[in-house]
Amino acid sequence: MSRTIWVTGASGYIGSYLVDAFSNNKGFHIIPIGGRSGHSNWSGDLTSDDFVCQLVTRNGIPDIIIHCAGNKNVKWLESNNKQARTDNAEMVVNLCRLAPTAHFIFISTDHVFDGMQGFYKESHRPNPHTVYGKSKYLAERYLRRHSKKATIVRTSAVFDRYAAFPAMLLSAWSENKVVSCFSDVFYSPLYLPCFYDGLAAIIDKVHLGTVHLGGERCSRVEFAQKLANVAGISSSLVDTSRSLSSNDIYDLSLDSTASWNSLGMTTPQLSRSLLDMWSIG
Ligand SMILES: NC(=O)c1ccc[n+]([C@@H]2O[C@H](COP(=O)([O-])OP(=O)(O)OC[C@H]3O[C@@H](n4cnc5c(N)ncnc54)[C@H](OP(=O)(O)O)[C@@H]3O)[C@@H](O)[C@H]2O)c1
Repeated sequence: MSRTIWVTGASGYIGSYLVDAFSNNKGFHIIPIGGRSGHSNWSGDLTSDDFVCQLVTRNGIPDIIIHCAGNKNVKWLESNNKQARTDNAEMVVNLCRLAPTAHFIFISTDHVFDGMQGFYKESHRPNPHTVYGKSKYLAERYLRRHSKKATIVRTSAVFDRYAAFPAMLLSAWSENKVVSCFSDVFYSPLYLPCFYDGLAAIIDKVHLGTVHLGGERCSRVEFAQKLANVAGISSSLVDTSRSLSSNDIYDLSLDSTASWNSLGMTTPQLSRSLLDMWSIG
C-alpha cells in the first residue's frame, strides 16, 4: 500500500524538487502543499489552524510530512524577529499538533551553529547567532520535546545549477566577468538529488532524531574553482583574494559522516556532484 507524503513549501526551491522526485517513486502518494502565493491545489498559510485543519479533514493525517516551508531570508529576518518565529517555528507547532501521528521530517539548517568552529557533528551544542538560526532552533527544540516521531534534518546550502550561488557564477562567467569569492567562508554544500537520496533513506528506515545531511566541507572559492573546472571556465575568472573583514560567522560546515553512514551512504563528494550536475545540462 502506498504511503502518503505531504511536502510543504511545494512552491519553493527544495519542496518543488522533492515533489517531482518522490512522485516518481511508486511507493508514495504525494500531496504538495503550496504556500501563501497559491500555486498548487493545496495552498495556504500553514501558520493558520483553520488551513491545517482543512488539510487534515479533507486528506486525513498523512504518513509522512516533509516540512520544507519556511523563511530562509537571513538578512531580512535579522530585523523581523516576530516573523521569523511565525514562519519557522509556529508552522511546525501547528502541523505537529494537528497531524500528531505523521513522521515529521523538519528541514533545519547549519545556522543553528555559531559558525566559529565548523565541521559540526550532530552532537555539537547549537548556539545560533542569527535570528534565522534561532527560529529554526526553536522549532527543533519543540519537536524534540513534543513529537515522538520526528527527524530533524540539518543541511547546508542545497544546490543545483539554479541555486543562487552557482547560478550567479555561471551567469557572470557567461559574460566573461571575474567573480570575487570568499576564501575564508566555509560550508558543506549538498547537491539536491543527494538530498533527495538522504531523505528517501530516512523515510525507508524511519530514522528518527537529528541527522546532518551536508556535502564535503569547502570554501566559497573552492566551490567556484571546482565548478569552473567542470564547466570548462578559466580559473582566472575566480578572484580568490576576497576575505572576511571581521571575526564573523565563517565556518558553518557540517560533519555529516555519521548520518550518511547510518543511512548506508557516504558523504557526497563535491567534484562528483558538480560533474553529475553538469552532465545533466
Ligand atoms: N535552500 C537551502 O540551501 C537550504 C539550506 C538549509 C536549510 N534550508 C531550509 O529548507 C527549507 C526550504 O528551503 P527552500 O530553499 O526551498 O526555501 P524557499 O524556496 O524560500 O521556499 C519556502 C517555501 O515555504 C513556503 N512558505 C513560507 N511561509 C509559509 C506559510 N506561512 N505557509 C505555507 N507555506 C509557506 C513558501 O511559499 P509561499 O512563498 O508561497 O508562501 C515556499 O514554498 C527552508 O525552511 C530553509 O530554512 C534550505
